[in-house]
Order: sequence, then C-alpha cells, then structure tokens
Amino acid sequence: MLSLNQLSYHPPATPQPILQGVNLTLPPQEMGLIVGPSGSGKSTLLEIMAGLATQTEGTVQWRDQELQPEELQQLAGLVFQFPERHFCCDTVLRELRFGHPELSTTQLDETLSAVGLSQIPLSTPPYALSGGQQRRLSLAVQLVRQPSLLLLDEPTAGLDWSMRSQLAALLAELKQHWSLLVVTHDPSDLLDIADHHWSIHQGTLTAVTA
Ligand SMILES: Nc1ncnc2c1ncn2[C@@H]1O[C@H](COP(=O)(O)OP(=O)(O)OP(=O)(O)O)[C@@H](O)[C@H]1O
Ligand SMILES: [Mg+2]
Repeated sequence: MLSLNQLSYHPPATPQPILQGVNLTLPPQEMGLIVGPSGSGKSTLLEIMAGLATQTEGTVQWRDQELQPEELQQLAGLVFQFPERHFCCDTVLRELRFGHPELSTTQLDETLSAVGLSQIPLSTPPYALSGGQQRRLSLAVQLVRQPSLLLLDEPTAGLDWSMRSQLAALLAELKQHWSLLVVTHDPSDLLDIADHHWSIHQGTLTAVTA
C-alpha cells in the first residue's frame, strides 16, 4: 500500500507551489490513474514518488513506513514520457543489464515475456524495434529490477490507436503483480482498467468517482 500524506512541493525559485496538500492511497495490485493538463504537476509528483525529487512538506509511506528518497529509488521504477529517448545501449541485452550486470538470462527472458517481447533476439538494437516494442522494452528495463511500484508518465503518448490499446492490455496484465500509478493528460484508453482515478489541477489532486 502506497500513501501520500499532505504532500506539497514548493521550491524556493517558484512563486506558486507545484504540488499542494496531495493525499493519495494505492493498494497493492491495483492501478491508479491521475489525469491533468500540461503543467499541472503530474511529472513532478512521479519524480517525488520515485525519489528523484524531495517534497517540501508531507510524507510518502509504503506499508505504513515513511520512506526517504533513497528508499523510494529502490522501491519504485519510473518509466519516463517518451522513454525510448533514454535508451543508451546498442542491444536489448545491454539495455536490460545496464547498471545490473548480475541479472541472469532467465530473469531477462521472464521479463521480456511479461511484456510480450519474448520473440525478440537479445542482440537486437533498441532503435530497430517498432514504437510499441520500444515502449515494451522501456517497461521491461524497469520491471527487471523488480520494483514494488511501477510509475508511468504518459505511457500512451505518441502511439497509434492499436498500439495504445495493446499497451492498455499489457498494463492490465502487469497490475496483477505490481502496483501501477499512471499519469496522463489523455486517459481515454486507460479509464477502463484503472481501479482509482484522480484529477490534478495546479498541483491539487481531487478524487474522481465514477
Ligand atoms: N525544476 C523546476 N523548477 C521550477 N519549476 C518547475 C520545475 N519542474 C517543473 N516546474 C513547474 O512545475 C509545474 C508542473 O510541472 P510538471 O512537469 O510536473 O507538469 P506536468 O503535469 O507533468 O506537465 P506535462 O503534461 O506538460 O508533462 C509547471 O508549472 C512547471 O513549470
Ligand atoms: Mg509531464
């Protein structure tokens, strides 16, 4: 169970707080969806949950324990918006093992199969994959580290309709094992599979009831 308690983020350089009094609870094996326009604070919220930025007020808790950024970096896996822009290696194998040379081929195979890429040779260059396959590889890069919480920033951005629905089906499968939190400005493909739904405007989060 993830919970954010009265979380605010107001760096000294910004006139207005970027996040204000955010409260959120996400049980395990469920998917939360946060929908808001550009500039509303979605990416900032994910960066705090991933331990890449630190809130100025409030706490992030996991199983009733308050976590520090270093612990959140271990717990959470963040898939950036347009994650394929962050590929750094020349093969799928090296991309998956980057920073984690200890991972066994079995672990890599299991992860690739979890994202529907089992037929791809490990020697394939990431840039040679299709757009949808690159998104799947980006998910695999995070999943192979076994995070307890998977954070996704605009996972359907830039995909055509068929790749968007395939990605939604994949997320529905992944939430059987992981807690997922997705932020987006366009929820159309994801509303059906979300268990919890919030909207965010100017850094303020509001629960949306169906
Ligand atoms: N490092 C920073 N320093 C100052 N302001 C920032 C910083 N990062 C983000 N902001 C501001 O915080 C607000 C929220 O930004 P954020 O990137 O979280 O929005 P977003 O909802 O992800 O937008 P988008 O949909 O365009 O990705 C914006 O007003 C932005 O200008
Ligand atoms: Mg963003």
